[in-house]
Amino acid sequence: MFSSRLPPNLAPNRLADALRSCRAQGQPFIDLTVSNPTRAGFHYPPDLLAPLAHARGLRYEPSAAGSIDARKAVARDYLRQGVAVPAERVVLTASTSDAYSMLFKLLADAGDEVLVPRPSYPLFDHLTRLDLVVPRPYDLDVHGSWSIDFSSVERALTPRTRAVLVVSPNNPTGSFVSGPELDRLAAMCAPQGIAIIADEVFADYEIEPGASRRAGRAAARRDVLSFALGGLSKSVGLPQVKLGWIAAGGPDALVDAALERLELVCDTYLAVSTPVQTAAAELLDRGAAVRSQIAARVAANYRELSLQSARTPSCSVLRSEGGWYAVMQVPSLEPEEDLAVGLLTNERVLTHPGYFFDFPRESFLVLSLLPPEASFSDGIKRVLRRFAYSATRA
Ligand SMILES: Cc1ncc(COP(=O)(O)O)c(C=O)c1O
Repeated sequence: MFSSRLPPNLAPNRLADALRSCRAQGQPFIDLTVSNPTRAGFHYPPDLLAPLAHARGLRYEPSAAGSIDARKAVARDYLRQGVAVPAERVVLTASTSDAYSMLFKLLADAGDEVLVPRPSYPLFDHLTRLDLVVPRPYDLDVHGSWSIDFSSVERALTPRTRAVLVVSPNNPTGSFVSGPELDRLAAMCAPQGIAIIADEVFADYEIEPGASRRAGRAAARRDVLSFALGGLSKSVGLPQVKLGWIAAGGPDALVDAALERLELVCDTYLAVSTPVQTAAAELLDRGAAVRSQIAARVAANYRELSLQSARTPSCSVLRSEGGWYAVMQVPSLEPEEDLAVGLLTNERVLTHPGYFFDFPRESFLVLSLLPPEASFSDGIKRVLRRFAYSATRA
């Protein structure tokens, strides 16, 4: 009766089961997987969302790509990051996930393929499957820092490849796609008519100074059809407000042809509410107060993580240039899932095992850098305590 776009097996994994019973029994734990900034103890000015109530929102004037004022506000925000994008090349969406879906409809037929980085964001499996697109992984290699394994990109390309996805900085590796890496991808994609989709939702969150300046920016490209994705959910910590965007780059004729078609896709759904479009400029301005708190927290927690793990030689924190997550390599004493379940049930700390993010081998833990500093520090102590003990036993 149901579509094969949905996974056949909806059973929760063991960690989700353990989490459910922990919650059912009212047992407190430290959550080192939090990805929702509105639940992480930041100060949101109480009137932050007042612009959503503007009377201009009472009038409905649908526009496929979004209101030009809101698109201009997004273009100004790109300028803040040093990227020049004409407002006409910005298309509003309800979220980044919505943007992926619009772009898959623009670029791919059922059964066509897109290349996705590995390790990366687990939602790609669902996002592609729901649009009948096939994800094919290419690898990010880690040698001190993460970089694209271009031989794996070459191996993954087929005549059905329609786009290469990059996440910059990546969730969870924290690596930006560098300028030279993006140049090399562009040189591979452009002659074959393959687009680049660059998820830059975390671009504002630099952990390593200078990393974002070294990053390649998709919207600035002139040589290959490219789409940069961003949104309020990460840039100003407002996922519930539901505003994302696509900024297109590439040769003019190709961008024009793509935008004409993308507008048709967006016009079919008209998913972006009028009040959020009316409020976009003000939310982008006012949200800077939240962004700066998140940026300071993420950097402080990464420093704390590095300090604490330096005292536990069996564990090491991988270099993270930006974003909201860090990766810790830990001894492979047990399968990652057992480890994460054990950490929750015995140490009362919730972490994500690396296999959720398709790490090619064990053992890695992915840790959110969003929790309040004191609870983050306590959570990391609990994680490391487990290894101090295991190492002694082993
Ligand atoms: C890399 C990446 N892209 C997109 C999103 C989702 O963004 P949105 O809330 O705009 O759909 C997330 C959420 O965690 C993410 O990690």
